[in-house]
Amino acid sequence: MPAQPPAAPLVHAQLDWDEEGRPRSRAFDDVYFSLASGLDETLHVFIDQNRLRERFAAMAPGQRLVIGETGFGTGLNFFCAWQLFEQLAPAGARLHFVSVEKYPLTAADLQRALALWPALAPQANQLLAQYVAIHAGFQRLQFDAGRVTLTLLIGDALEQLPLLDAQVDAWFLDGFAPARNPEMWSPELFAQLARLCAPGATLGTFTSTGWVRRSLKAAGFKMKRVPGIGHKWEVLRGEFLGWPEEVPPPPQPKPWYARPAPHSGDKHALVIGAGLAGCATAASLAARGWQVTLLERHHGVAQEASGNPQGVLYLKLSAHGTALSQLIVAGFGYTRRLLERLQRGVDWDGCGVLQLAFDAKESARQAKLAAAFPADLLHLLDAAGAQARAGVPLPGGGLFYPQGGWVHPPALCAWQAARPGVALVAHQQVVDLRQAGNQWQAWDGEQCLAEAPVVVLAGAAAVKDFAPAAALPLKRIRGQITRLPATADSAALATVVCAEGYVAPARLGEHTLGASFDFHSDDLTPTAAEHQSNLELLNEISPPLRAALDPTEPLQGRAAFRCTSPDYLPIVGPLAAPAAFASAYAPLARDARQVPDVACPWLHGLYVNSGHGSRGLITAPLSGELIAAWLEGEPLPLPLDVAEACHPNRFALRQLIRGKAAD
Ligand SMILES: Cc1cc2nc3c(=O)[nH]c(=O)nc-3n(C[C@H](O)[C@H](O)[C@H](O)COP(=O)(O)OP(=O)(O)OC[C@H]3O[C@@H](n4cnc5c(N)ncnc54)[C@H](O)[C@@H]3O)c2cc1C
Ligand SMILES: C[S@@+](CC[C@H](N)C(=O)[O-])C[C@H]1O[C@@H](n2cnc3c(N)ncnc32)[C@H](O)[C@@H]1O
Repeated sequence: MPAQPPAAPLVHAQLDWDEEGRPRSRAFDDVYFSLASGLDETLHVFIDQNRLRERFAAMAPGQRLVIGETGFGTGLNFFCAWQLFEQLAPAGARLHFVSVEKYPLTAADLQRALALWPALAPQANQLLAQYVAIHAGFQRLQFDAGRVTLTLLIGDALEQLPLLDAQVDAWFLDGFAPARNPEMWSPELFAQLARLCAPGATLGTFTSTGWVRRSLKAAGFKMKRVPGIGHKWEVLRGEFLGWPEEVPPPPQPKPWYARPAPHSGDKHALVIGAGLAGCATAASLAARGWQVTLLERHHGVAQEASGNPQGVLYLKLSAHGTALSQLIVAGFGYTRRLLERLQRGVDWDGCGVLQLAFDAKESARQAKLAAAFPADLLHLLDAAGAQARAGVPLPGGGLFYPQGGWVHPPALCAWQAARPGVALVAHQQVVDLRQAGNQWQAWDGEQCLAEAPVVVLAGAAAVKDFAPAAALPLKRIRGQITRLPATADSAALATVVCAEGYVAPARLGEHTLGASFDFHSDDLTPTAAEHQSNLELLNEISPPLRAALDPTEPLQGRAAFRCTSPDYLPIVGPLAAPAAFASAYAPLARDARQVPDVACPWLHGLYVNSGHGSRGLITAPLSGELIAAWLEGEPLPLPLDVAEACHPNRFALRQLIRGKAAD
């Protein structure tokens, strides 16, 4: 018998609705909330036991409070916390809610469950509006112009929490009752809660089960039984006292990946380069109250790689859960939700992306992906299904990404650069960076253009022009797209279709056809030969579509440089002083297992966001969040190992260990 492909992972909650209209989990045979006392229980168990009313009211502008939760469920606890935060916290304070959920509700179930709580509608409707592309792993959502951040960790708490890098101020220990869900309520979970506690962290939980209380105590929490509410006789409150001395300490990140001290003082940053990476960084910082000077050498945003009329929101995944694949799923979700704020049909369209199975190798790859990922992220279509989706004749079937589509990257950049707090300064080429006291100064050769305590280099491969980033192994790869006027017949194209190249449904009367790869040319003048090769790529996708488009010469288009790293991951994070780094960690050249007890010689305030290759639409926006999380000491939007895989120090480290150049 042929081997069966592994079953697609069960992701969504399987619900039944009881006679009162409440959702009930089939997996745990329990209700999510009580209709009579659900809100009162949340307020009593999670809000009051964590003293959140006082803590919200006492926050200073610019301060942030992080709540962690096990079991997001319908989000009731999140909405209650958010609503109180909105009522009590001062302007400028921020709430960050991190919640882990093994079985997220489908959008339809979530909507039905939340309809039961009209009082929470202002918050719930905001979540519902963004509840798209919530797939396994880390999924970040932003509300109220960045005042409230939600990081959902989709997966089992015991698998996801060890990947989290955060300092949690208050824990909501939820999840169905310990008796119904004993796997979750375990010493391993409690050790993770303790590992993630900020000093003085607190905890509330609805259970008063003796072994839960004792295990939390053993993990370092001082626990107290307090009177309960509704049918709960007693509940528990806790306070983190510290990691118990008798327990070996949790593993710490290696010093070269440890977080630099969060930024304190003047929240002013210079971002150099206004493409997708720079604009995203600027927007993420501005959402956190920063003043950002966005320096760009051209007349406006998105004039280089980010300037194509249409880019594809396409996920090149691996069935093996690699760091790149995790980054892509998280980044795709983040970008996809961001796009909901832009104008559909002009700025972007969620028309789906069809990747044709153009040869046997690609077919085999697609079969593996279809077995590894849920159908709402991707699924196989046979020839007839693919053709029905695409609306044009096709040579065969392929893999369909229903939530993908195309984006007009300049619109995304412009939207981000227009966030309050971002000041675009165009026509300024930064030639030199100088440190003066605790300020970084950007010079154009003769004059200082601007200064700030923080600088983010977001100039694609041109970041290498600055000495601290000169050794980053970034390469430029020229690419050219072709613009083709839509015709009556080509209007039938209903989804992006990719083979070796891609074609998108028309935007404002024009299709974009892409894209060539040229590893050698430095010239950005579009060539007729590459237009021709793009047309050949279109012919592989659909000869009738190629005929329908029937372009007249001369063909229009543009060329730009992609910027890639040797491992195809972007380069995002803080920069260290290269010579001091090499000397601090020189012992690694002799023994790669050594961890010298030397703090990383960071260049304080200097960060990079580059190397987004052919998928900047997916990786650049979330990378802006990653930079902001580092600067603010916030929960990272990605698993720790994925953030490390994108860290600028990885190359200097590999070079030390292998004793040779990183690329
Ligand atoms: C032909 C082609 C097709 C592509 N198709 C897709 C696609 O379908 N989907 C997808 O997701 N991605 C696609 N990409 C990749 C995507 O466009 C890039 O990953 C993304 O645009 C990179 O953004 P960036 O901000 O890093 O770089 P850029 O957009 O190049 O921005 C860098 C900016 O920095 C400025 N700058 C640099 N140095 C300085 C300085 N010293 N002073 C001032 N300003 C400076 C530059 O002027 C520029 O504006 C494609 C790329 C190309 C070339
Ligand atoms: C009672 S519900 C949570 C209610 C929720 N906090 C709310 O406000 O609506 C419990 C949730 O915990 C989730 N859960 C149970 N075990 C889990 C685990 N091991 N990891 C992550 N989530 C889990 C369930 O899927 C369910 O959504």
